[in-house]
Amino acid sequence: MIGGRTRLAGVIGWPVAQSRSPRLHNHWLARHGIDGAYLPLPVRPGDLASAVAGLRASGFAGANVTVPHKETAAALCDTLDDAARASGAVNTLVFTAEGIHGADTDGAGFMANLAAHGVQAGPALLLGAGGAARAIAGALLGTGVPVAVANRTPDRASALQAALPGVRVVGWPPRDLAGYALLVNTTSLGMAGQPPLALELGNAPAGLVVADIVYVPLTTPLLARAAERGLRTVPGLGMLLHQAVPGFATWFGVMPQVDRETHDLVAADIPAR
Ligand SMILES: NC(=O)c1ccc[n+]([C@@H]2O[C@H](COP(=O)([O-])OP(=O)(O)OC[C@H]3O[C@@H](n4cnc5c(N)ncnc54)[C@H](OP(=O)(O)O)[C@@H]3O)[C@@H](O)[C@H]2O)c1
Repeated sequence: MIGGRTRLAGVIGWPVAQSRSPRLHNHWLARHGIDGAYLPLPVRPGDLASAVAGLRASGFAGANVTVPHKETAAALCDTLDDAARASGAVNTLVFTAEGIHGADTDGAGFMANLAAHGVQAGPALLLGAGGAARAIAGALLGTGVPVAVANRTPDRASALQAALPGVRVVGWPPRDLAGYALLVNTTSLGMAGQPPLALELGNAPAGLVVADIVYVPLTTPLLARAAERGLRTVPGLGMLLHQAVPGFATWFGVMPQVDRETHDLVAADIPAR
């Protein structure tokens, strides 16, 4: 039950009703018997600065940040972790007496999800050049993996390359998958309500691992086609679960586990296909 000592956090987004983060964090709070609550926080574009200041002044421990606020939130922070400095975006805010600390845990969440699927990253082709692509490209480069990026809007791919000079830019849509060990969809294509990603997998090398960071539905059309071809696949829900770990640990003081029960609880709220 919420009381005077309850620690508070939440997710800031617009809209935010679709976010699975409240379900995930409140599950962990209940599992660990923590006196805490995690709320959906609908904040309109333009209201972010006043909302963040208000949450901090109200004693919140921090918040996650999702679409469309990740870049604007980074500009509100007093300090940023390395990943957030590289991506120019934050998904995790921690309020302290000194100020606001921002972190971008998407890249680490992606890598943890790969590891949980027993995948060691190799030469990677990222489809998309948005905020998530930046975070993932930075994380992959950080492990020494060569990264190529293909994006519908060439200028955005160039901007990503300017921020992360180790990245190679290739044309959209990519036609040749030879030489890659990992293909990652970071576009919103394949998400419920969006067209599927039309990518030719016919010439995919047999060992290619196909990852999608879209997690609604759980099995995207891209993952389904890859699996039909016998390719290994990594669905996106695990990234969502893993990116949430550092925020929860900081706000509530317990390191939560991403295990089968956690996965199934969040997955139960998401269409399979
Ligand atoms: N699993 C997780 O934990 C996790 C975490 C973060 C994000 N995500 C998901 O990842 C996706 C991208 O997120 P984001 O924050 O990076 O978004 P974003 O910054 O808005 O980037 C969207 C990307 O999708 C591309 N795109 C959109 N519509 C397209 C179309 N019709 N054809 C080709 N490309 C298209 C955009 O290309 P242009 O530049 O050409 O517009 C851009 O590269 C979303 O579906 C989000 O839900 C998942």
